[in-house]
Amino acid sequence: MRAKKVVLAYSGGVDTSVCIPYLKHEWGVEQVVALAADLGQGEDLEAVRHKALASGAAQAIVQDAREDFVYDYAFAALRANALYEGRYPLATALARPLIARILVKCAQAVGADAVAHGCTGKGNDQVRFDVSIGALDPKLKVLAPAREWGMSREETIAYGERYGIPAPVKKKSPYSIDFNLLGRSVECGVLEDPWAEPPEEVYSMTRSVADTPDQPTYIELEFERGVPVALDGTSLSGVKLVGELNRLAGENGVGRIDMVENRLVGIKSREIYECPAGVVLILAHQALEALTLPREVSTYKRGVEDTYAQLVYNGLWYSPLRGALDGFIDFTQQRVSGIVRLRLHKGTATVVGRKSPYSLYDGDLATYSEGDSFDHKAAEGFIYVWGLPTRIYAQVRR
Ligand code: ARG
Repeated sequence: MRAKKVVLAYSGGVDTSVCIPYLKHEWGVEQVVALAADLGQGEDLEAVRHKALASGAAQAIVQDAREDFVYDYAFAALRANALYEGRYPLATALARPLIARILVKCAQAVGADAVAHGCTGKGNDQVRFDVSIGALDPKLKVLAPAREWGMSREETIAYGERYGIPAPVKKKSPYSIDFNLLGRSVECGVLEDPWAEPPEEVYSMTRSVADTPDQPTYIELEFERGVPVALDGTSLSGVKLVGELNRLAGENGVGRIDMVENRLVGIKSREIYECPAGVVLILAHQALEALTLPREVSTYKRGVEDTYAQLVYNGLWYSPLRGALDGFIDFTQQRVSGIVRLRLHKGTATVVGRKSPYSLYDGDLATYSEGDSFDHKAAEGFIYVWGLPTRIYAQVRR
């Protein structure tokens, strides 16, 4: 017996469903508590709950975690402009530490001695779950049946049928999809060939450019201390704002990302992402930072951002490093408040305006017209000193 009572991260899919009888009958677990987190994936979670019970769970819980997800995870990463390998806004990666936190809290509340997830042994998500759970409650056991059971997909389905878990009825999509409010991640099927263009069917949050409106959509995003608070002049909760932005950007075909990335476990994989709101928010936030952060802070922050993105991707959300970086980022965001105007059109988002009460842009210094306050004479001495090392080097070489 590996554990008496287990809280399982449950999605309603075949793998996590099969985990329930597997834990009970192969690993001797007495009670499985299935826990599904609502991260804005827009599924019928009541049906998911019933499926867990039908699959043999002693208890099935659905928890609405959308607000925590947006404010504590997505917006924290936004303030860091976190893009893995410069492109992926980390929608899947950010959800894992939150699910881990919910699992651990639930395990503590129901007196479970272990938690479980349905990850296989090849991906990043197993690392994120295991490391996060270990950080939150080092005594809790983590069970990962799908990492050990060695069943093919057909065998998994057959195993489930023995315990009353219906085989997927509709012709199963060839893709592996992860979905939440921040975006969608799609892999497998034809996408495994990095040369193959993704078929239109892999997308669901964004329109193909061919089907987008001819007229551009203009939007205004307001930030307070680096956090988005209003869209087009209307204050919105984070969850509503991200939802609305997904719709507007998606309609204009904004947010598709096709990339080959480096997994933590050493494998290169090809993934298609849709992150309409994520892409637009980071673009807007960067524009506001460009207006409000002093040059040296901007430059230094770029390095921090890359480290931050790697840390999130690599499952180190609950590490002291993130605390330290958040301390830095928090300080930088004190004046990142203001409004950014963007044009969404034919698959691209473009910043067309920005303003802030803390703007460091000085029109009198920047202007080429009358009223210029910059001391042109001072430039000469500056350039003499600035260029000195380069001139000396060039002289010595001749
Ligand atoms: N590559 C992404 C990450 O590691 C997404 C992983 C899940 N992808 C999926 N299609 N299920 O964060």
